[in-house]
Amino acid sequence: MPLMTYAEVRPWAKAIKHQVLTKRMPPWGAVKGFGAFLDDPSLSLPEIAVISSWVEGGAPEGDPKYLQPPHDHNSRTVESRPAARRRTIRGDLRLDRAVVAVGARAGNGPGSGWLQLTAHLPDGSVEHLLWLSGPRPPGTSDYWFRTPLNLPGGTRLVCTPAAASVDLLVQDSAK
Ligand code: HEM
Repeated sequence: MPLMTYAEVRPWAKAIKHQVLTKRMPPWGAVKGFGAFLDDPSLSLPEIAVISSWVEGGAPEGDPKYLQPPHDHNSRTVESRPAARRRTIRGDLRLDRAVVAVGARAGNGPGSGWLQLTAHLPDGSVEHLLWLSGPRPPGTSDYWFRTPLNLPGGTRLVCTPAAASVDLLVQDSAK
């Protein structure tokens, strides 16, 4: 259903409030605060508060002079992402040499429920890479890290639950 104009949005105001408060919309799948990603469309808490209070206030129409020009969906440019190899992690995997982790790719197959991916570095520190709370939203499988991560040889990658698997997207380390 189109949600481009006030007339199209108004009848859905209550449903929109529910969707954004429960974080079902916009679809993303990754739990906030566990890893940081490029392309993350999630709304911030202040944005959610603005939508929610607008609905609570009766969803009034704003002044048309502040209306943004209509969004041209055809002009959307998709940024290219770095070439990377896949290291499939099922359970536990110990890196035999250093790599740069640039993202993670989660399968969409049946049974693709929640999963968590963490990296345990040889110095004892733990990096939280990805936490998916349930089935992947359609069209979302690649989660590119906001900052590439240097993982030294000896790093232990852990994917839970044991039955889950995830591809870590890696490049060779310059070190
Ligand atoms: C009446 C409330 C809404 C309903 C019932 C609804 C429903 C849906 C459904 C069924 C999809 C298809 C994908 C899926 O099932 O996850 C979808 C996609 C999407 N929705 Fe919503 N939605 C609502 C409100 C919103 C709002 C308020 C936003 C933004 C804040 C939003 C952003 C998106 C985005 C970004 C997509 C993905 C589109 C794409 O991949 O091209 N939705 N929505």
